[in-house]
Amino acid sequence: MIDLSLKGHGGSFRATVVVPGDKSLSHRALVFSAMAEGDSLITGLGTGHDIKSTASALRSLGVDIDGDKVRSPGVRGWTGPADPIDCGNSGTTMRLLAGILSTSGLTATLIGDSSLMARPMRRLVPPLSALGARLEVSPEGRPPLRILESGTVHGASVTIPIASAQVRTAFELAALAGDSPSMIDSPGGFRDHTERWLTAIGLGEWKTATAFSVSPGSIPPARYEVPGDPSSAAYLWACAAIHPSSSVTTPTISLNPGRLGFLEILERMGARVDAVVTGETGGDPVGDVTVSSADLNGISIEGDLVAAALDELPLVAVVAAYADGITSVRGAGELRAKESDRISSVVGMILALGGGVAEHPDGFDVIGTGFLEAGTVETNNDHRIAMSAAVAATRIDTPVIVRNAQIASVSWPGFYETLERLWS
Ligand code: S3P
Repeated sequence: MIDLSLKGHGGSFRATVVVPGDKSLSHRALVFSAMAEGDSLITGLGTGHDIKSTASALRSLGVDIDGDKVRSPGVRGWTGPADPIDCGNSGTTMRLLAGILSTSGLTATLIGDSSLMARPMRRLVPPLSALGARLEVSPEGRPPLRILESGTVHGASVTIPIASAQVRTAFELAALAGDSPSMIDSPGGFRDHTERWLTAIGLGEWKTATAFSVSPGSIPPARYEVPGDPSSAAYLWACAAIHPSSSVTTPTISLNPGRLGFLEILERMGARVDAVVTGETGGDPVGDVTVSSADLNGISIEGDLVAAALDELPLVAVVAAYADGITSVRGAGELRAKESDRISSVVGMILALGGGVAEHPDGFDVIGTGFLEAGTVETNNDHRIAMSAAVAATRIDTPVIVRNAQIASVSWPGFYETLERLWS
């Protein structure tokens, strides 16, 4: 456990920063390449530990991954692993693999670190079972996740109660092995990377704004260009928003609408946001984003915006502390099922830094005082709490201790150095 002592910066900054490859798209590029028979090439793969978890899990199934090159026998040629597959800290690795494996005819057990072993997995069971998959979770609905050999995989039509891109993707990838088309629906706001890719290769189509149908078929080998991660860039955008006279530009970021909630929130709070679409990759828009500081005001966040800003809500709490008025987040109970109970971690973080915050079952209120102070932040082994606390620390003159700070490497090794370089 490495605790980091971080101190603030008085001055303003103007910077351009290239952020690492998008985590969601990196998982998907690896998984799609591994499902395809043949050679695929991935450029810009994310550098975080979660991506390494997906790569090593796929290797244990017989996929050859060498840097940016993936050579696979195709999902039908995967070999059942003798040992449990360790998904590390990565919920995306576990849920996506559970989906694919559940209709592959293989048996496997999926495990993870202590955080992942405490996360809810029962949500996968109804949609995957509808396809004919057989999988078991612990009596509490957690890992280990045991995948039993499936029989005939049928097409199915399901509606899930949460806007989870991971569960949707697990179902959609499992449904590719079906004997007829399948469909999934859910509340909106989710990142639709998988649906865009399946549409681009002709294996799926939208039926409504949220219902997507999947045609059985094989994913072809391909070349993937992974753009920058908006969930990583968000820490730099937040920094620019809270430091007077500052701005940051992040080129070539994924601009999937399901990832843009934080930019919408910053804009509604008063920050200046310029996003220019410069291209497209795998059906996802890509572009350059500049965020500049301005006077910030508190806002109310609920509905689809919660799903579209889900991973950035801890950071919203930090920005809100530097805004004028109350910012409230509701309908975000799903935060309690992340790498830590993120509602309780956020409340702990803001209190530790002398801010005003109230906990609610499905969210929190932050009282914007324009001021936070030194303290020790318990990250609860959650990368997004560690990085949010580091952003808060950039505006505090006396040291902020971030406990177990290296957990940031789950999504962004080198994050603290990059943050520091904004002022150089
Ligand atoms: C992800 C989806 C989201 C997000 C996670 C990555 C993905 O989770 O919080 O960090 O890549 O599909 P849920 O869709 O389960 O809410």
